[in-house]
Amino acid sequence: MKIGALRESESDEHRVALVPETAAQLIKAGHKVCIEQGAGLTAGFPDIAYSQAGAETLTGNEVNETVDVFVHVQPPTVDEIQKLKPGALVVSIMNARNDASRISVLESAGVTAIAMELVPRIARAQRMDVLSSQASISGYKAALLAANALGKYLPMMMTAAGTIPPAKILVLGAGVAGLQAIATARRLGAIVEAFDVRTAAGEQVESLGAKFIHPPKSKDGEGSGGYAREQTEDEQHLQRLFIKEHLGDVDALITTAAIPGRPAPILVTAEMIDAMQQGSVVIDLAAESGGNVEGTTPGKIININGVSIHGPINVPSSMPFHSSQLYSRNVMALLDLIIGKKDKTLNLNLEDDVIDATCVVHLGKVRHKFSS
Ligand code: NAI
Repeated sequence: MKIGALRESESDEHRVALVPETAAQLIKAGHKVCIEQGAGLTAGFPDIAYSQAGAETLTGNEVNETVDVFVHVQPPTVDEIQKLKPGALVVSIMNARNDASRISVLESAGVTAIAMELVPRIARAQRMDVLSSQASISGYKAALLAANALGKYLPMMMTAAGTIPPAKILVLGAGVAGLQAIATARRLGAIVEAFDVRTAAGEQVESLGAKFIHPPKSKDGEGSGGYAREQTEDEQHLQRLFIKEHLGDVDALITTAAIPGRPAPILVTAEMIDAMQQGSVVIDLAAESGGNVEGTTPGKIININGVSIHGPINVPSSMPFHSSQLYSRNVMALLDLIIGKKDKTLNLNLEDDVIDATCVVHLGKVRHKFSS
């Protein structure tokens, strides 16, 4: 089988779907691997690294038109899809829940498409879980963005000129990104508090040396599959009052409550921002899906009454070496499930939980319809 990747076409996308390490593993498993010239450069992988791994470096069209398996990070463009051979397999983040028109293009092209963001959160599929691998990078980066934007030390400093107290950081949402933000802020010496509607998150927060805060007597907010359930209006009201009490003395607020495929819940209103200290910083990791903070502007830093609110987008792309490496390993693990070990051909078992959930189009037939 011929497996290949192109240079990503979005200008702010620095990741690459195949890194030399995974290219070498695919070649060892008996496949041919090709990559568009220069595709890995922005992630720190020059063409020579791919050649040394045994991959071919070709023009974009040569890759696009000849591969059996086309791997990508961002959803492929219409042009890229139309250039594929009918029957080819496309593996990518597809934004499938919200992008019916791209699914139609995949259908018309007669290809098979796997949406990496739909990998189910089950133990067997952890190695393929791109939401986790990329969210972990976002959480780490959020703590660094906060540290960088804050005009203060994070750790306590005992200097000849006197003692500086540690900064205080509040993290809202203690899922994959939130826990990584907590761990990173703790490593940098900050005092960290975190809130999540799921009480189960409390133990994980405390194991990282942070304090779990939760409105007294509130019900557990966990829904099905370990995810947060939609909060009632009353619950949201109480949570906002509770969070507001904690905002007055924090130096940085990191919010991470994104809900895949849906707009993010507003956890912090403009009125709550008024309760924050001048010079404090907000990093809203949910900016791409509308933000957890009223006023967040995706891709921008805005200042409201001395509080700077950052709405970073595509955060994993800002750390492209490791985000590509992890993404590529996630894709590898998924391909392992699809490509026959002996005959080395595509062998999609649509009854397998992971394939069933992720295969949105099979040989030009749409398999899942999403209501938007
Ligand atoms: P996410 O990105 O959807 O949400 C982030 C966090 O925000 C979650 O912890 C969620 O409970 C919290 N949240 C949602 N609404 C909130 C609100 N109104 N106020 C405060 N917090 C709110 O979730 P993520 O990080 O992708 O994963 C969350 C769950 O999935 C966790 O239970 C995690 O353990 C589980 N998981 C399971 C995996 C597996 O393979 N079994 C892999 C990764 C995550």
